[in-house]
Amino acid sequence: QDTLEQHRPLYHFTPPEQWMNDPNGMVFYDGEYHLFYQHYPDSNVWGPMHWGHAVSRNLVTWEHLPIALYPDSIGMIFSGSSVADVDNTSGFGSADNPPLVAMFTYHNAEGERARRNDYQTQGIAYSLDKGRTWEKYANNPVVNNPGLRDFRDPNLFWHEPTQRWVLILAAGDRVRLYNSPDLKAWTFLSEFGEKNGDHGGVWECPDLFPMMVNGQQKWVMLLSINPGGPNGGSATQYFVGNFDGKKFTTDYPNDTLWIDYGPDDYAGVTWSNVPESDGRRLFIGWMSNWDYAKEVPTYAWRSAMTVARTLSLVQTDAGVRLASRPVQELEQLRNGSYTLSAATVRDSLDLSHQANLQSPAMEFKLSFDLPKTTASDFGVRLFNDLGEEVRIGYEPQAKQWYIDRSRSGKTDFKEGFVRRITAPRLAESDTLTMHLYVDVASVELFADDGTTVMTSIFFPNEDFTHAALFTERDSLHFNGGEAFSLTQKPL
Ligand code: FRU
Repeated sequence: QDTLEQHRPLYHFTPPEQWMNDPNGMVFYDGEYHLFYQHYPDSNVWGPMHWGHAVSRNLVTWEHLPIALYPDSIGMIFSGSSVADVDNTSGFGSADNPPLVAMFTYHNAEGERARRNDYQTQGIAYSLDKGRTWEKYANNPVVNNPGLRDFRDPNLFWHEPTQRWVLILAAGDRVRLYNSPDLKAWTFLSEFGEKNGDHGGVWECPDLFPMMVNGQQKWVMLLSINPGGPNGGSATQYFVGNFDGKKFTTDYPNDTLWIDYGPDDYAGVTWSNVPESDGRRLFIGWMSNWDYAKEVPTYAWRSAMTVARTLSLVQTDAGVRLASRPVQELEQLRNGSYTLSAATVRDSLDLSHQANLQSPAMEFKLSFDLPKTTASDFGVRLFNDLGEEVRIGYEPQAKQWYIDRSRSGKTDFKEGFVRRITAPRLAESDTLTMHLYVDVASVELFADDGTTVMTSIFFPNEDFTHAALFTERDSLHFNGGEAFSLTQKPL
């Protein structure tokens, strides 16, 4: 089984070959979800960045398209976003055929080597054929560097009240906001973040969008940080607050909030131009971590994206928080479904046989009675016949979810891959729920209706095709649930 293709997920997005990192330029247009991504087509480690490209009609099945953007004399093409310029404000298209406009960071490697501090600038490109081909703007860059070594990852959106495009980008320990009538001429507005959130590493890949909660509009800012994540390395924090078209303020100046506590969800941002009739805020992240992304034991390609997720704001006792749930379209992957009966679990309860599952791609929806705060740890074990396993569990004493990948197979490719991965439980209810997506080399836990999320990758020597419930000591009340084997359907 030890081939160049070993560990390739069945339904998560991966590049056909070679290196991938951040998702970029996600826009919905004319029935298609576009996904671009940081890509180096000549090697399975990071190098001169391009924008790879794929499209999907259902966020589940992806069609690979040719590389959309290549490096040029100004620089490599780093992360960014794209929008549908439906009113043709840029003039790149026409009223009948409005353009898609992408903004990306130009990273000039010579400038970096020469230790200049202006080697990152923002450029734009447009497409008049539904993203199939792209033309770079002749007067790039459109945002010059004010003398900041870190000045990247532009994210664009249309702000209706001010009738302006707004641009947010990462500048070291803060974000900077700009606006423009036409996507070409940009005016600096404000900064945010120097004194807020986590600063264990450099800020990257911001996103800013409105969301409703309690009948009120709030603004959510996503902000990736590397290193400094709650479980080491890269992670994405968020802020909830207000935005008046010029300035963002946070409602929780003293809190650091993480969209996903696992080590393997980074640089995630959301799709633009999703129709109001749909109304969802759709997110995807890079399912890896700069701590070890270049060393993970895959060869033909490196890295996958998370599953697409729907974000929402929920009111909790601690305040308004961001929840993530797998998109409903993922149900299309189910090809066998099994009801799991309620049971008292002592030691272990096999799910694979009960559910007739023998698949490296599985989904579980499980519910448990909240045990006493003194009770022992419990959860789900994914395992193979070699004695390798991953545990996704809950610790009542610490009131936290965890993932243990210390015995998951290949773990020594990079120091620090094995460490205890934990996340505080936010929910207060007497029932705990776990929604799990497993896919050959990853597990995504959406606990308590997505209020605690953890994503983790792993590399067993043989696929984990078995699953069981475990409890370390005390008996556990399992309320039952559902199990599914998943398969990718051809396009
Ligand atoms: C985040 C990041 C971005 C940058 C890109 C380069 O993972 O470091 O800040 O644009 O990757 O590939």
